[in-house]
Amino acid sequence: MRLQNVRVMGPTGLSLPTSIEVDAPGAVDRDASGLILSPGWLDLHAHLRDPGFPAKETLQSGATSAAFGGFTHVVAMANTDPVTDRPEQVRALIARAAGLPIRMSFVAAVTMGLEGQTLTDAVALQRAGAVALSDDGRHLMDLVTLRRALTAAAEAGLPLLIHAQIERLGDGPESEAAAVTQALEALAAVPRARLHVQHVSTRASVDLIRTAKRQGLPVTAEATPHHLALTAAEVVALGPQGNVNPPLRSVDDREALRQALVEGVIDAIATDHAPHDSGAKAAGANGFHGFETAVPVVMGLGLEDRVLYRACVERPREIIGQSIDEEWILIDPAAEWIVDASSFKSRGKNTPFSGRRLRGRIVMTLCRGQVVMERVMQHA
Ligand code: DOR
Repeated sequence: MRLQNVRVMGPTGLSLPTSIEVDAPGAVDRDASGLILSPGWLDLHAHLRDPGFPAKETLQSGATSAAFGGFTHVVAMANTDPVTDRPEQVRALIARAAGLPIRMSFVAAVTMGLEGQTLTDAVALQRAGAVALSDDGRHLMDLVTLRRALTAAAEAGLPLLIHAQIERLGDGPESEAAAVTQALEALAAVPRARLHVQHVSTRASVDLIRTAKRQGLPVTAEATPHHLALTAAEVVALGPQGNVNPPLRSVDDREALRQALVEGVIDAIATDHAPHDSGAKAAGANGFHGFETAVPVVMGLGLEDRVLYRACVERPREIIGQSIDEEWILIDPAAEWIVDASSFKSRGKNTPFSGRRLRGRIVMTLCRGQVVMERVMQHA
């Protein structure tokens, strides 16, 4: 397929309009004036609820939603039912994912049942195809267990992803800082281990991670679109709809995250896509739908295009050691739309952006050289 007059997003930002041939046999040529072609975004952090919670999401509904959101590759967390803590489960998930419109990778649990006690078999999970280990959603490991987990992950050559919260300390900034401090301490004691801090939400965490990076520790970090865009003040009116873990923080925390992204202290943007059915959400469940609002929310942050490329295309793949396979997205950066959750392809309609006017929309998604989503644009 030939795209005419398109701007291409790459490591140095956006190029001038050019014509480009994209390997998608059978797809029709098009004038892409005003559009941006970006390598498909990879989301390092998604809850796909499969197996166990089909009212919230399935691999199929999650993959379709991701394609509409501009993600050609998503990484599923292990807090399913049953928890992904055994190699045969990883193999079964990978087999099921082969038929999906986008690519999917799987994280396996660090501890059996996410209970923070007995370690899973990291080497066997890696051999089965897991790309990382994480107990995300929980963090029950003490320092000794964390050190043993990092040792096992290092032996398996996998990064350890942590949900940085000491549960008994609640979900305030000090709980997150204590968890980051503990994990960095464990990391410093384990040769060849790699640590990735999930959904960083505070200035204090950013400062700890910056210092650790300066000391040469192999730590990486992610922030979510909602922590980068919103603050606690803005979601008060949402009631239970505003519940998320970690909670939305202060303006100062949000500014620290944005600055850290520019510096590269925060490596990646990851959605923490956490779909819930309406009953669970009304009853207080934590988490937001992430996929279908991420691109415009992130583009609305006013970051340089080279920073977006690094945080959404390049670093997420480096962190889990994945290459790109004919994955592209075509974005209309000028398209404005009002978020109507009922139109989401995801089963999770729980968004804090409901009713907001966003700018930027995915026009087309290609994965493995196939067009997997094409939106008919109203104003085109
Ligand atoms: O808000 C959240 N929801 N944070 C998490 O860490 C877990 C997630 C979920 O699984 O719903």
